Amino acid sequence: MTEKATLTIEGRSYDFDVFIGSENEKSIDIKDLRSKTGYITMDPGYGSTGSCRSSITYIDGAKGILRYRGYPIEEIASKATFVETAYLILYGELPKPDEFKEFSTCLREHAPIHTNLEHHFSGFPKSAPPMAILSAMLNLISCFHPELLDIHSEGPEFDKTAALLLSKVQTIAALAYRNAVGKPFNHPNPHLSYCANFLHMMFSDPYQEYVAPPVVEKALNLFLVLHADHEQNCSTSTVRVVGSSRANLFSSVAAGVCALWGPLHGGANTAVINMLEDIKKSGRPLSYYIDKAKDKKDPYKLMGFGHRIYKNFDPRSIILKKQVHDVLQELNLKDSLLQIALELEEATLSDDYFISRNLYPNVDFYSGIFLRAIGIPLNMYTVMFAIGRMPGWISNWQELLEHKQRISRPRQIYTGSIERQYIPLEER
Ligand code: SDX
Repeated sequence: MTEKATLTIEGRSYDFDVFIGSENEKSIDIKDLRSKTGYITMDPGYGSTGSCRSSITYIDGAKGILRYRGYPIEEIASKATFVETAYLILYGELPKPDEFKEFSTCLREHAPIHTNLEHHFSGFPKSAPPMAILSAMLNLISCFHPELLDIHSEGPEFDKTAALLLSKVQTIAALAYRNAVGKPFNHPNPHLSYCANFLHMMFSDPYQEYVAPPVVEKALNLFLVLHADHEQNCSTSTVRVVGSSRANLFSSVAAGVCALWGPLHGGANTAVINMLEDIKKSGRPLSYYIDKAKDKKDPYKLMGFGHRIYKNFDPRSIILKKQVHDVLQELNLKDSLLQIALELEEATLSDDYFISRNLYPNVDFYSGIFLRAIGIPLNMYTVMFAIGRMPGWISNWQELLEHKQRISRPRQIYTGSIERQYIPLEER
């Protein structure tokens, strides 16, 4: 690009290069800003700061566009399996039949975990949060694969590590659940699809193999596809920051799990159900909660609303809202929380506070009701998000290395005490 950005400060002008992406997103390359001007930028929360160039996922927040490697989420969600989607996000192309077969076989082979790893579960209290277990166990896996600690961004070792993490994340998740409910562990069944295998490991019992109804398996597949990547969100950026020190992929995704756990991010799907349950139990009118959310003095927020990027609608929420009706109907279930959610959304659509701040339902608003419908327990909702996001985390870590990106080390502006002398204790 020949276009330049000119900054004039303290009477001097400085030119900076402009970089335009394949979807005409515009950026100013300020890597030399400090050396040229002595100034740094200040952007807490990074609302206007790009951390990387990426070819994995594209989001247009104003138009509600989400594409994985150029494919619209609406198409991928309605036509692709999660395994196909994971392959697409990792390798940039939809797998050909032989590639799909080989990738699926690799995932099945890596589903079991080492029996020594299983023993670690007995050390967790039954009340242990599954996200804490997931993050710990993802790091622990690396103890059994020292040969995969120092891998590059491509080649058989990367492929093995990616498949191993994609596969074992669901085994660990299911074992965390079985540990929490005090039930015997189910081993992966290599004859089942990715989603059917997870549901088997979650819900089979020694005397009764759980066979997922097609509608439940299809719903889980959709949920995971919708969560597979979302450009530089908080947890993916965390994976990149950790990976930028050349930390291994296991520790990088374990850090991503920790970032995802927060209620402002992946923890929101659980917080939405708690909020809807509170509303239902309280018997108070919706207006009470909407007014609370609007009150600047009250930290209360409507969980599942708002998004840093989507300033119109989150296409994933649109898809989940439609599908949750179909799943409940096909399973002949009713969920009173869905009615409350629909009424809450309706009320905000005509409320200037939400309209003026572009606050619409995000992916987490309906996902909790969706997971309830297919029998996933509440304490596993954010774990499900982590299983879905694993391809995105791995692919972003890989891209960081491919681009040989520098270690992440932001600057700050110091606002503390200026220089002062030490005073001995007896003189203070
Ligand atoms: C995910 O980044 C991603 O891509 C994330 C994600 C992914 O796939 O990885 O999409 C998944 O994390 C979705 C978001 C889930 N979180 C929630 O549902 C929690 C509730 N939402 C908010 O906490 C908030 O909207 C965020 C965290 C989603 C976005 O935060 P921002 O961009 O920092 O926006 P903000 O907090 O600065 O809010 C702007 C204004 C403020 O009011 P004013 O100061 O301008 O008067 O909107 C208000 C906020 O108070 N606001 C809300 C609100 N969200 C923002 N008011 C009431 N309820 C809310 N939910």
